[in-house]
Amino acid sequence: MLIHERSASEPLSSELTSETVYQQRRDLLKAAGLFGTAAFFSPVLLAAPAAYSPAADRGNVPRYLRDKLRLRKAGNNPTGEPLTPFDVVSTYNNFYEFGLDKSDPAANAQAMRLEPWSVRIDGECRKPGTYTLEDVLKPHALEDRIYRFRCVEAWSMVVPWLGFSLADLVRRFEPTSKARFIEFTTLQDPQQMPGQRTRNLRWPYVEGLRMDEAMHPLALMAVGVYGRSLPPQNGAPLRLVVPWKYGFKSIKSIVRIRFTETAPQTTWATMAPEEYGFFANVNPAVDHPRWTQARERRLPATLFNPNWRDTLPFNGYASEVAGLYRGLNLKRYF
Ligand code: MTE
Repeated sequence: MLIHERSASEPLSSELTSETVYQQRRDLLKAAGLFGTAAFFSPVLLAAPAAYSPAADRGNVPRYLRDKLRLRKAGNNPTGEPLTPFDVVSTYNNFYEFGLDKSDPAANAQAMRLEPWSVRIDGECRKPGTYTLEDVLKPHALEDRIYRFRCVEAWSMVVPWLGFSLADLVRRFEPTSKARFIEFTTLQDPQQMPGQRTRNLRWPYVEGLRMDEAMHPLALMAVGVYGRSLPPQNGAPLRLVVPWKYGFKSIKSIVRIRFTETAPQTTWATMAPEEYGFFANVNPAVDHPRWTQARERRLPATLFNPNWRDTLPFNGYASEVAGLYRGLNLKRYF
C-alpha cells in the first residue's frame, strides 16, 4: 500500500519478489530513516520478530473474554482450504500504527494497553454513549468464523476468527433512518503507537461501510483468532473483518463507531482515491494501478515458492454479497 501520499513510484510493502521493487522500497525507507536490518525478505518465514514469539504466546485471555471463550460456538471451514498457521497470522501484519514492515506490529505492539477499553458510539442512532468493552461484548455469543482474507497487496490467508456479527451490534444502538453509513476509528495514542509519531498515514485510521454492507451476516466484529483473544498486532481488542473486501477495510483496535448520513472519509480512499476505493471489494478484474489483482500469494509463501493462486470475485463470497452491488459499475466505483 502507499506509504506517502500520492507517490507514484512507491512500492507495495509485500511486493518483494523483484529486485527493482526491493530496491525502491529500501530507498524509500532509507529516505524516511526507517530502514532496519530485518527488511529484506523478512515477511513470512525468514525473520522472527525480536519481541514476539508465536510459539511462546499462550493466548492471554483478558477478563472480558474469559467466560465467553468457554461458551463459544465452534465453526466449520466453509472455505475448504487449509488454515494459515497462527505463527504467520500473528507475525505477518499490516498495522501501520506500529511500523511499516510486516514484522513491526508483532515486535512493537506487545505492550499495548487493552484494559480498560471503551468504544464511543455516536452519530445517527438512538443509543449513543461510551460503552466499556465488556458492555459492548456482553450480549453476544462468540463464534469461530473461518474466512479467506485478501490484502490489496496481493497476499492472502485463511484465518479462523472468533467474533460476532456486526449486524447484531449495530441493531443494539438503533440507527435512525438517516444512518446510511457507518464509520469506524482506531485508537489514536502516539505514545503507545510509534507509527503515529510519523506522517506515514493520516491518523487516526478510519474505515467505513455502507449500512447494508454492515448489516450483511458475513461482516464480523472479531475479538479473537484461533480460539483465543486477538494478539495486539492483529487489532486487539476489537476489530472489523469484512471477508469480501480488501484487508484494509478490516480496521483494527476500534474505539469509535459513528452512524452517518454521508460516506465517511476513510483513510486510504482519501489519501489515494485513484488507488483505493471506498468499496474495495476484492475484484480480480480491476487491477491496482501498479500491480495486478488477478492473483494472490497464499501465505505461507516464500520467495522461492510464492504459492500464487487466482483471486476470486468478492474473494469467493460473490454468491452471498454480489446482490449488494447490483446496478453499480464496480470498475468505476471500486
Ligand atoms: N487497521 C489499522 N488501524 N491500521 C492499519 O494499518 N491495516 C489494514 C487492516 N487494518 C491497518 C488496519 C490492512 S492494509 C490489512 S491487510 C489488515 O489490517 C491486516 O490485518 P492482519 O495484520 O490481522 O492480517
